[in-house]
Amino acid sequence: MNRIQTQSEWINRARDVLPGAGFGNFDPGIVIREGKDARVWDEDGKEYVDFLIGSGPMVLGHGNAEVQEAVFEQIPRGMTFFANNSLGIELAEEICRAVPCAEQLRYVSTGGEADMYAMRLARAFTGCDKIVKFEGGYHGMSAEAQMSLAPSRMVNFPQAVPDSAGIPQSVADEVLVAPFNDIEFLRSLLDEFEGQVAGIIIEPLQRIVPPEPGYLQAVRDEATKRNIVLIFDEVVTGFRFSYGGAQEYYGVTPDVCTLGKVIGGGFPLAAIVGRADIMAHFDKSIVGEEGWLMQLGTLSGNPVAAAAGLKTLEILRRDGQNERFQNLGKSVMDAVRKALEPTGHPYQIVGEPTLFDVLFIDHKVRDYRDTVAADKKLNATFNEVLRREGVFKAPAKTYPCLALTETDLHLTADALQVAAEALT
Ligand SMILES: Cc1ncc(COP(=O)(O)O)c(C=O)c1O
Repeated sequence: MNRIQTQSEWINRARDVLPGAGFGNFDPGIVIREGKDARVWDEDGKEYVDFLIGSGPMVLGHGNAEVQEAVFEQIPRGMTFFANNSLGIELAEEICRAVPCAEQLRYVSTGGEADMYAMRLARAFTGCDKIVKFEGGYHGMSAEAQMSLAPSRMVNFPQAVPDSAGIPQSVADEVLVAPFNDIEFLRSLLDEFEGQVAGIIIEPLQRIVPPEPGYLQAVRDEATKRNIVLIFDEVVTGFRFSYGGAQEYYGVTPDVCTLGKVIGGGFPLAAIVGRADIMAHFDKSIVGEEGWLMQLGTLSGNPVAAAAGLKTLEILRRDGQNERFQNLGKSVMDAVRKALEPTGHPYQIVGEPTLFDVLFIDHKVRDYRDTVAADKKLNATFNEVLRREGVFKAPAKTYPCLALTETDLHLTADALQVAAEALT
């Protein structure tokens, strides 16, 4: 007979077979047993309001009945084919309708892959090698993306510093790192490397830091003027900030964007989308052998993921959903503010209603270096008490979801009060 195992037993088992006792993603000191709507339970049965929601994909909450039904309908018909399938084609059509820059789409399985190909695509299109990325910007795990992702040593811009072992210097030489929200720096960098830059890759909301008014448009203008491919990494913001993503939310259209998380409805699916003349580099019959970007993947366009994604998008575009989502996020933000205001600690709520977090700092946060300057001890205590009080979140992000109920919001507000009191 199967004996129920405690969380600490699972943690011990993980220690034997997983380096660092985990999957590499999250604190291995918690093992999640199950999720339903905006709640998760750990292996000891402790219940949490979930503001991690799978690091973003479960925008509808866990176990949405309609998404399950769509998935269960597909599973008996086949779980993967490698060949084209109608659900994958329909999802591509829907994404191209929704996302302003999307004329064509190529599937991959993860956001990091999408970003890797987007940068390669910019190189294929322009014939240039260099990529501009922003310090602290996250674009997955490729060698380029690992440059100055979370550096502890602040070097002079535009020097790129790898955040991982195993990356050759030659990659760092092709990446130019700039501070987010500093258009003057970007202009002078692009002047200096005129004719050498293939692409600029940017998170429109960098982690949780919003672009200052006019900044994204100014980046857009510089890229246009210099024939550089502008890539928005919308792996997080796509279908979350609004149905058309951050490009619709902020009103600036890139040449190419990457999507992941929400479009797979909780299954592994991501995509590179963009202007048809750029996407043509995935098609040898148009660009020829020399210009062709070879790309394939076993699970690309997986029909189960596409079924989940299609249903998720259908639910998201129903009347009033976006407004409801924005309002839910705003009420969580208000609860954070209400809890922290009496503490007297300087703090900033950084981000947008559907993705934000708290930083304990006394000035407006513009870029990665500001986030590093925030008080880490206060942040750690705050998050630790929240976890103890039944709020599950990542250390630097709060992801609201559409399944949050009034009861979830009350429980969250109570936990926030206790966490805030623990800071004094
Ligand atoms: C902005 C951004 N880009 C890319 C990725 C990588 O996506 P994945 O984990 O699916 O590879 C993430 C993951 O969180 C992300 O936040």
